[in-house]
Amino acid sequence: MKKDGIKDRIEKLRKEIEEHNYRYYVLNQPIISDFEFDLLINELAALEKQYPEFKTSDSPVEKVGSDISREFQQFPHKYPMLSLGNTYSEEELRDFDRRVKKSIEKPVDYVCELKYDGASISISYKNGILERALTRGDGTAGDDVTANIKSIKTIPLRIESVDIPDEFLVRGEVLMPRDVFYELNDERIANNLPPFANPRNAASGTLKLLDPEIVATRKLECLFYFLLGENLPFDNHFQNMKKVASWGFKTDVSMRLCKNIEEVLDFIREWETARKKLVYDTDGVVIKVNSIGQQSVLGTTAKSPRWAIAYKYKAEQALTRLISVSFQVGRTGTVTPVANLEPVLLAGTTVKRASLHNADQIELLDLHYGDLVYVEKGGEIIPKIVGVDTSSRRPGSKPVTFIAHCPECGTPLQRNEGEANHYCPNYLHCPPQLKGRIEHFISRKAMNIEGLGEETVDLLFSKNLIRNVADLYDLKTEQLLPLERFAEKSASNIIGSIEKSRNTPYHKVLYALGIRHVGETVAKTLARRFRSVDDLINATVEELTTVDEIGPKIASSIVAYFNDKENITIIDRLKKAGLKLSEEKEPENKEPLLTGKNIVVSGVFRHHSREEYKEMIERFGGKNSSSVSGNTSFILAGDNMGPSKKETALKLGIPLVSEDEFLKMIGEENHTNNMM
Ligand code: IVH
Repeated sequence: MKKDGIKDRIEKLRKEIEEHNYRYYVLNQPIISDFEFDLLINELAALEKQYPEFKTSDSPVEKVGSDISREFQQFPHKYPMLSLGNTYSEEELRDFDRRVKKSIEKPVDYVCELKYDGASISISYKNGILERALTRGDGTAGDDVTANIKSIKTIPLRIESVDIPDEFLVRGEVLMPRDVFYELNDERIANNLPPFANPRNAASGTLKLLDPEIVATRKLECLFYFLLGENLPFDNHFQNMKKVASWGFKTDVSMRLCKNIEEVLDFIREWETARKKLVYDTDGVVIKVNSIGQQSVLGTTAKSPRWAIAYKYKAEQALTRLISVSFQVGRTGTVTPVANLEPVLLAGTTVKRASLHNADQIELLDLHYGDLVYVEKGGEIIPKIVGVDTSSRRPGSKPVTFIAHCPECGTPLQRNEGEANHYCPNYLHCPPQLKGRIEHFISRKAMNIEGLGEETVDLLFSKNLIRNVADLYDLKTEQLLPLERFAEKSASNIIGSIEKSRNTPYHKVLYALGIRHVGETVAKTLARRFRSVDDLINATVEELTTVDEIGPKIASSIVAYFNDKENITIIDRLKKAGLKLSEEKEPENKEPLLTGKNIVVSGVFRHHSREEYKEMIERFGGKNSSSVSGNTSFILAGDNMGPSKKETALKLGIPLVSEDEFLKMIGEENHTNNMM
């Protein structure tokens, strides 16, 4: 290559790497695999080494990626938060061992741990009390996410053990167990929010939420892998980590002391498949020199310690050809590009299609029709294209471009500023959007109409028998019988299930309507506060936003839904069909123990949700208010209550009532005892 060409390549690589760093650390939406990313880094490092004249001080090779966001206050790390050198090969691991031995004359013990795939965190403790939690940030300073970290139940807020140093730091990985991740994504999809790509993104996205109360609901965990400080209990990592575990921190159960590199390789082989049974995602093994004295002799580079290395398990990949790209229109009108591939075997299954996410990814991959592409099944369920073999590109092949019109109804597509997805705005008439709303309505978590599935909806739709959810309740057995795939029995079964669905509880009907951003949880909350759909129809954005969990986005979506005449017509028809569009029985009228009391509920609670407490207050004759004032009778205060509320309460002399005290007040004491 000519020198100019090399300089261009270096600049292009740097830009690409920065872009991927930003996507990974800040947006939590990476579009290439770690392996692919490491290839870019390696290529850049090699070029910079060969052509030092093109090296710059801000090269991403020397830097750890940054997760710093503007919403949080930053604090410097007492000890820099370094990254780790990576390898995918046994040979390079042996090289690492040789390098270590060269500097250390005595025998070297290694500690092997799994490399957990989450978001790293550094937490300081002073006199046994959790002081501050920082994200990695740029390695020198990180975002203060203390309030969020405090809402993770398994992280000790105070350590009772007597054998702790006055001051120390623990570092670890914040993780979301896989089942929690699936649950969260189901809920996000139901609420028309983009799902997280994998548990790692979900964990780091959650850590950067601005409301610790929501963080608390996300069931994060944290595994610790590092103890730092001036007066550590032992002079080696292994015993220190055992100590950390005895103080009440969760640590890696797989951690093992190895006498030599062969034992390290055994560990790596053993865990290659065993790790898949763990509830957290892992992507490799971290190998650390055990002795802290030896660690100091080895020292660090600007980016990573010389005494540790990460061996990464390779995600299974396959190379295949891109045949075409289809554009699918979803229930909410979002258009998703899907790659159609020459079938290829990958991790035990044949892959024919792969997700392409959105227009940006197509562009970033620089995808052309007929390209040979790398597909990978990472932590995700749907395989994705992670790279293109541009060297084998056929001359004259056409680049893949995003479509301008809806493939289903021809409406020009829209893309909102700052959003990654294109969508079809033809909400009222675009067939997949109409069908999608019916499919959502009949689904298990909504009206649960058994015997009706996607294919039947398709068929009934194509025969013009249904256009919206209200049409379902006008269907007659005689209309179904002439259709292929229906016999007397199946037709009457379906009509029977539709009949049965009229008894579905009100909150499920609300969820089934498919109002944008109204998932199961929000629907339940709405049903509790607005006892009938008519109350909800009349609610303003202001009224809606006084309800917990309902922000302006959800509120305006609800108002917009009910402002649409077609939706009101459908609701009227559903009412006539006998669906439950209001709460049936009034809540028990308990003694008005709280009459005349103005109560503010704040913080995270153990026995009931915040919304349940608000409901209880109303049931007992009290009034909820959202801000503390001279009028406030008391604050029902949970953990992590808002600091400004606390301050105002102190200033005005308003009492704080704990969860347990409150339950006693209303005579629900039994709760307080059995939880101890
Ligand atoms: S030790 C100086 N141990 O991997 C040593 N890191 O690429 C610093 N990680 O930022 C890290 N599991 O977020 C260490 N058992 C483990 C780990 C681990 C996951 C993460 C950590 C770190 C990144 C390095």
